[in-house]
Amino acid sequence: REEEIPELHEVGCPAELRERVEELMGRYPDRKTASSPALWAVQERYGWCTPEGIRQAAAVMRFTADDLESVASFYDLLHTDPVGTHRIEVCTNISCWMRGGDELLDAFEAAAAGEDDQLFVTGFECLGACDIAPMASIDQRYYGPLEQAEAATAVEQLIGGGEVLPEKALAERGLAGDA
Ligand code: FES
Repeated sequence: REEEIPELHEVGCPAELRERVEELMGRYPDRKTASSPALWAVQERYGWCTPEGIRQAAAVMRFTADDLESVASFYDLLHTDPVGTHRIEVCTNISCWMRGGDELLDAFEAAAAGEDDQLFVTGFECLGACDIAPMASIDQRYYGPLEQAEAATAVEQLIGGGEVLPEKALAERGLAGDA
């Protein structure tokens, strides 16, 4: 965690961004109120609230990067992950864990290695689909039960723009009791 206010000369803030943030600060009596518009300016410049962009705005505003980071994570319209990135959340809670959730997470992390600009992999607490354990949410669709080897397949399909594990998508699954 970064508790210190970054120095302006260390962060390489582009002049236009600096001017924009200063202008926003001038508009509000309390500079705290300018935080979300300033982050919006960061997002407009970089496409999302990048850690560097947040540091730049923090240096101009005399906040710590953490202060701004928490504002950015609070607002749904401000993105603290690259937009356009595929988001893979692997459940590691009890039902999934008992059926190999940790190993599944490892398998996704290994498959996604080196593709950080396109893939964001994280573990997650119960996603409420314990009946298909071990499961993962990929771009907000649920998949399971997943084999470890399917992690690599899913990652390939995501990067190639193909349909992801069609036979494991929750929406495609027959209801319990269906033949
Ligand atoms: Fe994984 Fe509930 S424990 S979805």
